[in-house]
Amino acid sequence: MAKKMHDTPMLDKLESGPWPSFVTGLKREAAKKDIMVDLLGQLETSYKTKKGYWKGGTVGVFGYGGGVIPRFTELKDEHENPVFPDAAEFHTLRIQPPAGMHYDTATLRKFADIWDKYGSGLIGLHGQSGDIMMQGCTTANVQPAWEEINAMGFDMGGAGPALRTSMSCVGAARCEMSCYDEAKALRTIINANIDDMHRPALPYKFKFKFSGCPNDCVNSIQRSDMATIGTWRDNIQVNEQQARDYMKGHGMDKLVNDVISKCPTRAITLRNKADAVTGDSISTVAVDDQHVMQIENHDCVRCMHCLNVMPGALLPGKDKGVTILVGGKSVLKIGATMGTVIIPFMKLESEEDFEKLNEMSRNIIDFFAENALEHERTGEMIERIGLVNFLEGLDIDVDPNMVNHPRANPYVRMDDWDEEVEKANERKAAA
Ligand code: HEM
Ligand code: SF4
Ligand code: SF4
Repeated sequence: MAKKMHDTPMLDKLESGPWPSFVTGLKREAAKKDIMVDLLGQLETSYKTKKGYWKGGTVGVFGYGGGVIPRFTELKDEHENPVFPDAAEFHTLRIQPPAGMHYDTATLRKFADIWDKYGSGLIGLHGQSGDIMMQGCTTANVQPAWEEINAMGFDMGGAGPALRTSMSCVGAARCEMSCYDEAKALRTIINANIDDMHRPALPYKFKFKFSGCPNDCVNSIQRSDMATIGTWRDNIQVNEQQARDYMKGHGMDKLVNDVISKCPTRAITLRNKADAVTGDSISTVAVDDQHVMQIENHDCVRCMHCLNVMPGALLPGKDKGVTILVGGKSVLKIGATMGTVIIPFMKLESEEDFEKLNEMSRNIIDFFAENALEHERTGEMIERIGLVNFLEGLDIDVDPNMVNHPRANPYVRMDDWDEEVEKANERKAAA
């Protein structure tokens, strides 16, 4: 049993809405824990005064420079004593989850027990950073809590100007769209660069994220400095039985209005069987005895729409690989940016492929470490120095597929045009 609850009329209001309220969750923990009683007290004060009362600080565990997010209360009385003493320290441990984010129940129980013992009982799975967020404990409890978590085999995540904990989609574990082994890519790159997570020494944060296909379930294009997104370069695969099932269940209207008309590049056509066209780049599937759906794969931009609405009937091609983009981030020095393609396609199957990806990730971190200004993300650095200089620094050939944004300039420089086209074609043939 915890101490008596503070009056929280404003927080109580939040429980009256139609959605489950975080306040209800916090109160449940507060029935057991003084730290949560006082957290609610401070939060109510913030709602009243419309001010935040938390400041950061320096709290860590032995051997690590990051991973703990310290929060100290600034809500003090006239004698400088915390108004809510049991929540005067409310630190968070960022713990790296397993790639793919699956747990067995025994692991979750152990986390819960450790956090009941040392912390507030509040665990976030998973934070925006992708971490297991063990939220709310005192400075004294950070080290012993960490030791028990570490003994389970888990490692500290990233915070501060450092490499951050990574995220991969669930991918190959249970998604038919997956185009590579996301968990392996994540672990390869993070394990190889772990020093930069545990000993913050970069100009600012750096994030890798991994999505198995262009659906980009972890939003890697917006939220990571280097995004690895699965794709394919041959034809969309088809499954006739599933396509017929779709047609039976949904009918012609839905097929036309929800699938074919919504292809952004009009790559799909519906034809009478007798009028079906043939070609190396065409995927054809019968949807009933009379009609076939045909996709011109050269026109497909891998938006994933048709594959998503006809799951199983249409699937990624067989020649799978990844596209690499850099520079995604939220608002900082400049507004939010999405990643720019620097590698349109590379295979990611053999050990050598993974090593190549690993090497590129290291080169990008090194370039960022040497060239970014303090508190500047990769996307801003590229904007400042120019994409061409970034590519040159990384020894990556410029490719016509690297489109940063649509043309805004009517003038075209034609010097060495033919040679450049030749080079691009050679590279394409060699890829
Ligand atoms: C005015 C008050 C606050 C502001 C403006 C603020 C701002 C932020 C921002 C911008 C983020 C990044 C979110 C993201 O990555 O999507 C963040 C994350 C975080 N904040 Fe705060 N914060 C505030 C109060 C607090 C308090 C009271 C605590 C704990 C006592 C806290 C603990 C954290 C933690 C643990 C994270 C990481 C969450 C995650 O990785 O998902 N913050 N905060
Ligand atoms: S990004 Fe693609 S592969 Fe990964 S979970 Fe989402 S749909 Fe599946
Ligand atoms: S995945 Fe390709 S074919 Fe399908 S809707 Fe998107 S662009 Fe069109």
